[in-house]
Amino acid sequence: MSENRVVDEMEHLEKLGDYLVVRGNKALNGEITVRGAKNFVSKCMVAALLGKTPSVLKNVPDIRDVQVVSDLLRLHGCKVDYAPKEGIIHIDATNISHGEVADVSTLAGSSRIPILFCGPLLHRLGEAFIPSLGGCDIGGRPIDFHFDALRKFGAVIAKEKNGIHITAPTGLKGTKIRLPYPSVGATEQVLLTAVCASGKTELSNAAVEPEILNEIDVLQKMGALITIDTDRVIHIEGVSDMKGFAHTALTDRIEVASWASAALSTYGDIFISGAKQSHMTTFLNVFRKVGGEFDIRDEGIRFYYPGGKLRSIPLETDVHPGFMTDWQQPFAVALTQVHGLSIVHETVYEQRFDFTKALCRMGASIQLYKECLGSRTCRFEERNFRHSAVIAGPTKLHGANILVPDLRGGFSHIVAAVTAVGESKVYGISLINRGYESFTEKLLALGADIG
Ligand code: EPU
Repeated sequence: MSENRVVDEMEHLEKLGDYLVVRGNKALNGEITVRGAKNFVSKCMVAALLGKTPSVLKNVPDIRDVQVVSDLLRLHGCKVDYAPKEGIIHIDATNISHGEVADVSTLAGSSRIPILFCGPLLHRLGEAFIPSLGGCDIGGRPIDFHFDALRKFGAVIAKEKNGIHITAPTGLKGTKIRLPYPSVGATEQVLLTAVCASGKTELSNAAVEPEILNEIDVLQKMGALITIDTDRVIHIEGVSDMKGFAHTALTDRIEVASWASAALSTYGDIFISGAKQSHMTTFLNVFRKVGGEFDIRDEGIRFYYPGGKLRSIPLETDVHPGFMTDWQQPFAVALTQVHGLSIVHETVYEQRFDFTKALCRMGASIQLYKECLGSRTCRFEERNFRHSAVIAGPTKLHGANILVPDLRGGFSHIVAAVTAVGESKVYGISLINRGYESFTEKLLALGADIG
């Protein structure tokens, strides 16, 4: 976004009151709780569409994505009952029906979840309408893998003015699919379609993120037959009927890493109740390598600055079990506080460094490069995208007026504002509510000076 448009957008958000004033240079100390993973809960809610009996999901965070998917499910005839305090959602998809096309488009808004409705709606209703997709602006975010996979199952996809209309005139049949890249969404698309397709499906080069393995657990509870093989291969035997499930969502490891990054950037100490070691091994190693420390307990993980010089590192994002791309943005703020040159090579999204512009305005020293600066080349090598960053530190950040560019970039802006000396105004914070439960309350609980 050009500087002029940023200023216009900030003026607009000022009028709407969509901003947070942060008086920084405060160590964040205290305890917070992180509940279920946004990127699991929303998909699990879609899986409930396949069940002919009611489902119940626990540990559901009160975030906007949950509201959006709840409304989309209601539009398709599901009964959805969410108790935010208890974090329990009941979904009854016994009598689902077609949603009004215009309503589906309006409701979906900036969410990318509707694309995952394809398989379940085809199985239950014989057709699906999927609106044009939104989501964070962090790269092209195509959905070609999804369409190629659906066609292999026998789906027919017709592009219409506001989205796509999908049918399966001869039914959905199991097939062999090899993803060009281990895409999270495309893997979920195949799983949600294959479970009830006739015959066997073999999916290779699948994503195996913990959120996906958790979804496989849910589908198995619902009656699916799924085998996880070695080397990213998943086998699915189609079944004719699925029932509802009862499940507890795994903790949001992106949110945990975001708050851990805030602890390090501000030289603070945060205990995150609900954090789980097993899903965070790679993050924990990196956190320790730069000089942060952590204590792992049954109830959660304490992340803290133990004193001494923080050390620079080379870092490369990757699919699981690599360092998550979603951890990169908040962690980059912590890297502005370490001594020396850190190199960050983003290999999952081609344009995930836009947020660094604001950090530079706040005093960070970050240079972007088109070259692959990691130990290996990635898909973006020849494609002219500035997807590597060199961060020189430590730099003293100072307060500024900044605009939230996307969900994780937005959280990184909050971390930068809390770290910076002086006052910042962070515009567009409503976007952060999409994926961070009660983040202003959590900031206050940790001693941030906000208003
Ligand atoms: N890709 C394609 N074609 C496709 C699908 C993906 O080229 O059809 C490419 C993408 O452009 C990207 C790469 O494959 O370069 C990985 O994309 P993936 O499909 O794995 O991402 P996603 O399913 O759209 C989910 C999360 C993201 C997270 C990624 C990677 C949800 C709702 N979103 O997106 O989360 O970054 O997986 O782990 O689950 C976030 O939470 O802020 C967020 C962006």
